[in-house]
Amino acid sequence: MDLYSTTPMLKIAKANKHGIVAFNVHSFDSIFWVLEAAAELKSPVILQTTVGTIQSLGAKNIVEVAQAAAQHYQVPTGLHLDHCTDFEIIKDAIRAGYTSVMIDASMHPFAENVARTQRVVELATSLGVNVEAELGKVGGVEDDIIVDEADAEKADPEECRQFVAATGVPTLAPAIGTAHGIYKGKPEIDFERIAEIAKMVDVPLVLHGGSAVPEEDVRRCVALGMAKVNVSTELKNIYSEAIREHFAHDPDSLDPRAYLQKAKEAAKEMVKTKIRIVGSENTVAPLFA
Ligand code: 13P
Repeated sequence: MDLYSTTPMLKIAKANKHGIVAFNVHSFDSIFWVLEAAAELKSPVILQTTVGTIQSLGAKNIVEVAQAAAQHYQVPTGLHLDHCTDFEIIKDAIRAGYTSVMIDASMHPFAENVARTQRVVELATSLGVNVEAELGKVGGVEDDIIVDEADAEKADPEECRQFVAATGVPTLAPAIGTAHGIYKGKPEIDFERIAEIAKMVDVPLVLHGGSAVPEEDVRRCVALGMAKVNVSTELKNIYSEAIREHFAHDPDSLDPRAYLQKAKEAAKEMVKTKIRIVGSENTVAPLFA
């Protein structure tokens, strides 16, 4: 099974009023267990990698493993490049077979963000590859992109309208109060702002910083039109914690299968929980209809 462009996946999800989770993966085996969990719930899913993961594993290798896993588990899968600031890396990822890319020019002034996004939209959409762009600034740490809490900035709804009209970007990630990483307190999500943005633009919206957002808040975001929900930190944490626990009890353990299996089981449960929250369980059929 080929990898799917996330443009139709997210449009269909939005029309059917559910979300699709995009899980950040950091290793080849995580590609397999994310898809294994998605297949068990008959849910479409998006795998995403940062630039750092491409540097560590290789874009072509990631694509080939994702294709093999999608074929094995027969699950509709998109492969997305998360938070990329570099046009050349985006081009390489598309050439390798990524079906979705994020151009993150949110650190630039509005006009520059428009220009950089336009350039990627022109290249990618003619090839059926989805594009995501960010407006406002999502706080926190994602790979080597670090935005201090004080510099985080929510997206302006009117600017969202202008941005989508000017760029033709098929998916938009507006900053609405979430942050990358685990929150110190409860995230203050600006639901009114999401509703206003959703009124102004017709494209599926993307929720960044999906880790540790209360379940009911994620559901509310999805109901308001945030069709892609990004989850990274929580998955890394639960996977690493299972390995730490294993070694706490068995410090001399030598068989990677023993501790990786425990980590996989814990992570798979987390994947399933997130899929259930966005409501994409048993939604594979409409995708192929
Ligand atoms: P979390 O690490 O907070 O889950 O955020 C993931 C994300 O938004 C990736 O772009």
